[in-house]
Amino acid sequence: MEKLMLPPFDYKPTPYEGLIFDGKMQYVFDEKGERYLDCIAGICTVSVGHSHPKIIKAAKDQYDKIQHITNIYLHPNIVEYSEKLASKFPGNLKVCYFCNSGSEANEFAMQLARSYTGQFDIIALRNAYHGMGAAMDLTANAAWKQPTPHGFGIHHALLPDTYRGPFNGEDAGEKYAQDVEDLIGTSTCGKVAGFICEPIQGVGGVIEYPPDYLKRVYEIVRKHGGLCIADEVQTGFGRTGDNYWGFQNYGVIPDIVTMAKGIGNGAPLAAVVTTPEIAQSITKKHHFNTFGGNPISMAIGKAVLEVIDEENIQEKAKEVGGYLHSELEKMREKHKLIGKIRGRGLMCGIDLVEDQKTKKPATTQAGEVMEKLKDLKVLIGKGGLFGNILRIKPPMCITKPDINYFIKALDVVLDSVEKKI
Ligand SMILES: Cc1ncc(COP(=O)(O)O)c(C=O)c1O
Repeated sequence: MEKLMLPPFDYKPTPYEGLIFDGKMQYVFDEKGERYLDCIAGICTVSVGHSHPKIIKAAKDQYDKIQHITNIYLHPNIVEYSEKLASKFPGNLKVCYFCNSGSEANEFAMQLARSYTGQFDIIALRNAYHGMGAAMDLTANAAWKQPTPHGFGIHHALLPDTYRGPFNGEDAGEKYAQDVEDLIGTSTCGKVAGFICEPIQGVGGVIEYPPDYLKRVYEIVRKHGGLCIADEVQTGFGRTGDNYWGFQNYGVIPDIVTMAKGIGNGAPLAAVVTTPEIAQSITKKHHFNTFGGNPISMAIGKAVLEVIDEENIQEKAKEVGGYLHSELEKMREKHKLIGKIRGRGLMCGIDLVEDQKTKKPATTQAGEVMEKLKDLKVLIGKGGLFGNILRIKPPMCITKPDINYFIKALDVVLDSVEKKI
């Protein structure tokens, strides 16, 4: 066939580099077949491993039957999955709603809290990330907020951060909780619809609160008529190791729980779980979500829960995550860049500082560390208000030999970055 030439055009496209092409369990591969240890898991999303065979099979089997049917016709997968998901919760958290993203789940949680209480105001925490869209109102980090009107009826309490925040003594939990009560007293009519927080802030830089904080805040919020919402988008499904849900680490039971990311191991699935009484409050109107309860998403969600059980994923998160934390603590003495190591299980954050005393965030260095680790075939994330927190949230099938590799790579990289300070 005759060769044709397009008209001349003075532009050279940048060569495409770093395309992630393939993935298997805790590893991903680029277009050249190079293998990387995935320590960020699509931002805490691939919970039990890339292309996990059981989950792929569940999806394929369901595709062979029916891909979609409106949830007006109750598909058995919704029932089976709801029962299994609800069985993972304590208390009366028994009613499941399904949607497609964490943002949607949080928007719906706000709706439930407002419908049930008849109140409007919602308290969230500064430095939180709860999503985009209407959930951007809850998000409290300038990097993620568009300059459009939002935040109507949303108030942000002090972040209970004992490393950089104003309170860090024995009574820090009580003092930070008091700020929530002050906020309710000064910025609302004295009654609120609810309070939302992640048990450990993820995007915010893996920030845990003082152990007594949530218990006190839940008491205060309930005293003012509000519901307590836990955003388990990153902390759920065993990731924190000690417990299946992050809120359990603080000895509280929320009224509403939102989930996304790890729930679908990479599939667009999210959920809101609440009590029958709260669910009842929205039954006077239709509630509908086209893809909520989609048969394939339900099959995937159920397979994820089964894998977590069958492969002792929570136990692995505890053991391998515990190992990760203890190895990192050993490195702390050697590396002046490491200000604080935070998190639990396989949710870990390393707060990099230019100076241990001033705690000046080492933002540029965090970027360099991330890039250099990539050169050594390790992918991590970074976050926090100043972008100086290294975030390690791998697929929970990661092994101790992988952690050893990560620790070695981080040691080498920190050595080289610290030389320049
Ligand atoms: C804690 C938390 N909540 C909500 C969201 C929003 O989820 P999505 O991106 O699926 O809308 C995220 C996303 O990073 C998150 O980390």
